Amino acid sequence: MANGILKGKKGIIFGALNDKSIAWQVSLKAHAEGAEFVLTNAPIAMRMGEINNLAATCGNAQIIPCDVSKDEDMQNLVTKSMEILGGKIDFVLHSVGMSMNIRKGKSYTELDYKFMHDTLDISAISFHRLMKTLYNDDAMKNEGSILALTYIAAQRVFPDYSEMADAKSLLESITRSFGYHFGKRNKVRVNTISQSPTVTTAGSGVKGFGTFVDYAEALSPLGNANAEECADYVISMFSDYTKKVTMQNLFHDGGFSFTGFSEDVFNVGK
Ligand SMILES: NC(=O)c1ccc[n+]([C@@H]2O[C@H](COP(=O)([O-])OP(=O)(O)OC[C@H]3O[C@@H](n4cnc5c(N)ncnc54)[C@H](O)[C@@H]3O)[C@@H](O)[C@H]2O)c1
Repeated sequence: MANGILKGKKGIIFGALNDKSIAWQVSLKAHAEGAEFVLTNAPIAMRMGEINNLAATCGNAQIIPCDVSKDEDMQNLVTKSMEILGGKIDFVLHSVGMSMNIRKGKSYTELDYKFMHDTLDISAISFHRLMKTLYNDDAMKNEGSILALTYIAAQRVFPDYSEMADAKSLLESITRSFGYHFGKRNKVRVNTISQSPTVTTAGSGVKGFGTFVDYAEALSPLGNANAEECADYVISMFSDYTKKVTMQNLFHDGGFSFTGFSEDVFNVGK
C-alpha cells in the first residue's frame, strides 16, 4: 500500500523493542513510505539486539541509545540525529512506557512512590524533555509532526492499568501544553494517538490483559486496531495530509471510546 507519502522526510522513532512493538511496525511503514530516520531505545533494551535487525531492514538506519529519563541522553540523541540526517527533523514518534509498580505487582492502593516517580518520568515527563530539547535546539522543521502513544485509561478507570493511567493523563496534558508553543513558533503538530489494547511486551505486562483485549474487541464496532493499523495512522499523522491537526488526543480504537453497549460483550470469557 506504500505511496511514498513520507518521501524526503526525516525522523526519530523511539521504542522499537521487538517485532510486536508498535514502533517496530511504524518503522517498517515509514521506511516503505520513503522516510529516513534514526531508531532509539533505552540502552538496556539494546542489549537484546533485535533492533539491529530492524535497522538493517530500514535502509541501515542508525541507532542511538537514549534513556528518556536522562537529559544528557536526550540532548545527545537530538544532536546526533541532526548530524546523521543532515539537518532538521520532520517527525518524531514517542512510543515509550514503563511502570515498575505494575511490574512488581503493586496495586493502585499500595503504590511505591519511588517507582511512581520513575513511571511518570519515563512514560510522560520524557515527552516534555524530548520536546524541550527539540525546541531549544530549533531541531524541528516547520510543519513537522510529533506524536506519542496513549491509552483510554487517561479518561476512564481500568483498575489494573494502575498508575499508568495517571502517566497517560499527564502525557496528554503535556501534548496540549507544548503543542501550543510548538504550533505558534514552528507550526509543528503535537498529538497523542489513543490505541486499542495491543499484544506487545508493555501491553502484556498489565494484569488480565487477555480479557482486556477480548472485552475491547467485543465492544468496538470495528474490532480492536492492531499494531500494523496503528502504524498506518501514525504514518498519516506524519504526512502532509494532516497539517492542521494539533493538540489532540486521537482515538484509534475501532469505536471503543464511544460505544456504551454491545451484545458481544456478554460472550467474553464464555
Ligand atoms: N500495547 C498496548 O496495549 C498499548 C495501548 C495503548 C498505548 N500503548 C502505548 O504504546 C507505546 C509503545 O508500547 P508498546 O505496546 O509498543 O510496547 P513495547 O514494550 O514494545 O514498547 C515500550 C518501549 O518503551 C521502551 N522504554 C521503557 N523504558 C525506557 C526508557 N527509560 N528509555 C527509553 N525507552 C524506554 C522499551 O524499551 C520499549 O521499547 C507505550 O507508550 C504504550 O503505553 C500501548
